[in-house]
Amino acid sequence: MVDLQTSPSTTSAPEPAIAGRSDAARRMTSIWIATTGVFFVVLALFGLVMRLIQSQNVLDDRWYYAIVTLHGAGMIAITLMGLASVLSWVIRDRLVMSTKISVATYVMTMSAIVLVLISTMIGRFGPGWTFLYPLPTNPGPAGTGGWSPGWAYPYYIAVALVCLSFALWGFDVLRAGIRAFGNPGRMFGFDIVSGRTKPTDAGATNPSIVAAGIMALEAILTAIPGTIIIVMLLAHGIDPKFDVPVLFSKNLIYFVGHMLANFSIYLGAGIMYAVLPKYAGRAWPAAKSTIIAWWCITLTIIFPYFHHLYMDFAQPAALDVVGNVASYASALPSAVVTIFGAVLIVYRSGIRWSPAPLFLYAAMVGWAIGGVGALLDSTPAINETMHNTLWVPAHFHTYMALGAVLFLLGGVYHYAEQLTGKTPNLRLGGISSIFILLGGWIVVLTFFVSGAMSVVRRYAYVPDPARYRNGATVGLVGASIAAVGLLLIAGDLLRVYVPGFGRRSEKS
Ligand code: HEM
Repeated sequence: MVDLQTSPSTTSAPEPAIAGRSDAARRMTSIWIATTGVFFVVLALFGLVMRLIQSQNVLDDRWYYAIVTLHGAGMIAITLMGLASVLSWVIRDRLVMSTKISVATYVMTMSAIVLVLISTMIGRFGPGWTFLYPLPTNPGPAGTGGWSPGWAYPYYIAVALVCLSFALWGFDVLRAGIRAFGNPGRMFGFDIVSGRTKPTDAGATNPSIVAAGIMALEAILTAIPGTIIIVMLLAHGIDPKFDVPVLFSKNLIYFVGHMLANFSIYLGAGIMYAVLPKYAGRAWPAAKSTIIAWWCITLTIIFPYFHHLYMDFAQPAALDVVGNVASYASALPSAVVTIFGAVLIVYRSGIRWSPAPLFLYAAMVGWAIGGVGALLDSTPAINETMHNTLWVPAHFHTYMALGAVLFLLGGVYHYAEQLTGKTPNLRLGGISSIFILLGGWIVVLTFFVSGAMSVVRRYAYVPDPARYRNGATVGLVGASIAAVGLLLIAGDLLRVYVPGFGRRSEKS
């Protein structure tokens, strides 16, 4: 890592006019952030409701399965696209991305969320967000607590819309990047690795652009199997004689699902590269090690999904080995370069812990610990016991809720002033971070402990109430504490990001 001293900052000061950061782009990014925030709070409250159902037996269990599907699909989509919009703002200082494409991806993502809301909340569609075939259209005989098979179709279309909207974002990043750098090689840092350009040269790429570029490639790659499986499922709906091979469909669904869930943390890292160094008063240029790590991620992110199929006896064993090795390998580039790099950036920098750097740094902790939880579960001998237990939600909530989402919050706090001209209440942000982190960690730790006790996941109720419900009750307490933190900052961030919101209270 190249350590360059710059002057530390505590906020994103207004900047001179930059082509990529037009007023339209500024407005669109604010709209993305405000909408993401509102959906996020609603979906987190649904998370709390699930723990309420599991601990207190308060609602018909069909509601649990509908809510778990809505919460999972909604959180994955909103976190992914929210992070992509903030990362777009980061790289817009060099890349002129299209505002029209941002509007199109917004309409597609929001339509997807409305479709998921309709199918789950009206149709009580509830196979889990991974919609494994044939469950969505075969929920069991009428009157046995399932849903009408037709509700699968709005959900399928929603999945396709999210895949395509992220791929469209990817096309735009690549188009704008190639235009800005003249060729893909310079965008991805080939000139730096070959020694022709220094990382600190004016025209050199930077880690946020490399991260966005790699995610753009992966977005396009993921849209292909995503579209294939949805077309197959729709074709089966039109003509039931059209056969969907079950194992093949599971491979495609888990490939797409694993990728979409994984991207968030890498998009978040792209934001962190640009923001954290500003508070530490140091620069984070695209050193050779950072660029090579990102090139490795291009491949290591693709193959770990096989670890979702260890228990499928029909899957060739060689693919299990690939899944195991790739899962371990995927930890190295991120751990060695990004997490270690962030520690070095902050170490003895005299950083002032306002909400932006605090959330970004806390996100690294969630990423590291959630990542270790995932590595353990990707070990076949451990997976044999942990598969389908609450260990799975434990590791991915640590990684996403206490990793990716905190990266997003860090970016939201940092860019508030630049995007809106208004400053969030930093003291309130600091206080709420205590609630969010304390509550969030209670939520994930109860998942971890329950998982280690072999409590099964995706069950509204299980026949062993004490073991199950005690964990769910502690989780409910954690979720309530986190909800207080979220609600504390929600009003303030809406005041900042939504023009006119809270104007009356501002005047008084
Ligand atoms: C206060 C915050 C949250 C709470 C209390 C919460 C709670 C829950 C609960 C109880 C489940 C069901 C676990 C099971 O029985 O298998 C669940 C599933 C899930 N959650 Fe969360 N969650 C929260 C935040 C998040 C965030 C921030 C994300 C992603 C960014 C997320 C993504 C998911 C996903 C993908 C599932 C799996 C859905 C499925 O199995 O189909 N959650 N959550």
